[in-house]
Amino acid sequence: MKVIGLNASPRGKNSNTLILVKAVLEGAKAGGAETELVDLYTLKIGYCTACGTCYATGECTLMDDFVEIFEKILMADGIVLGAPNYIDSVPAPMKALFDRMADAIHCQMLTGKFGCSVCTAGGSGEHEVAGYMNKVLTTLGATVVGAIGVAIGRDPSALGKAGTEAHEMGKQLARSIRGEHTYPEQDEIHRQKRDYFGQLVAFNKERFAHEYDWYVRMGWIK
Ligand SMILES: Cc1cc2nc3c(=O)[nH]c(=O)nc-3n(C[C@H](O)[C@H](O)[C@H](O)COP(=O)(O)O)c2cc1C
Repeated sequence: MKVIGLNASPRGKNSNTLILVKAVLEGAKAGGAETELVDLYTLKIGYCTACGTCYATGECTLMDDFVEIFEKILMADGIVLGAPNYIDSVPAPMKALFDRMADAIHCQMLTGKFGCSVCTAGGSGEHEVAGYMNKVLTTLGATVVGAIGVAIGRDPSALGKAGTEAHEMGKQLARSIRGEHTYPEQDEIHRQKRDYFGQLVAFNKERFAHEYDWYVRMGWIK
């Protein structure tokens, strides 16, 4: 069982958010997972140019660290996303990563995987940003097991309590991967998304040739 944690703070080992990502990973480890932590700010992930090549071929034309990080995501059973609130959203490297996964969204490539998100903020927006990252995981096909957001500007001690919750969420992530927890409501959402994107891909099957092949290969389009 593999769980990967991605933290998107430029503050390296001083990152508040890192404390939560690490706590989730430690919880997952206690639940039997092998874990890996990646600092997104150490990677080069260029901006999507909307060329559409990935839809047609499954390959990206940009030569940078995306291929390696995406491979790690695909190899993982669980994905933990961590980001500070930057103006009510995620920092640019996390958004750059999301934008590079448009083909993965069409193909619902994280189907069968589980994930969760953590966010720290100075004063507000922590739940919204964690919720946004979980929404992206859902849109990619993954099932989310929880989200933690904490504002620490006026109460730094809140980080400690959130760390304890994050540890528990990591254990829940491991239990979910093992199949000890089911999420029927999210299964239904995933069915609807596969239907929706399947129709989109079938409608554009010349332009989205690789995606059409993917749906046929997965048995999602007969
Ligand atoms: C560019 C920038 C934008 C920020 N925007 C917000 C914001 O909109 N709302 C907020 O409550 N905190 C905001 N903050 C504060 C950070 O979210 C907060 O300090 C966070 O805990 C930093 O996490 P880190 O240590 O993991 O980098 C911002 C900080 C920076 C540097």
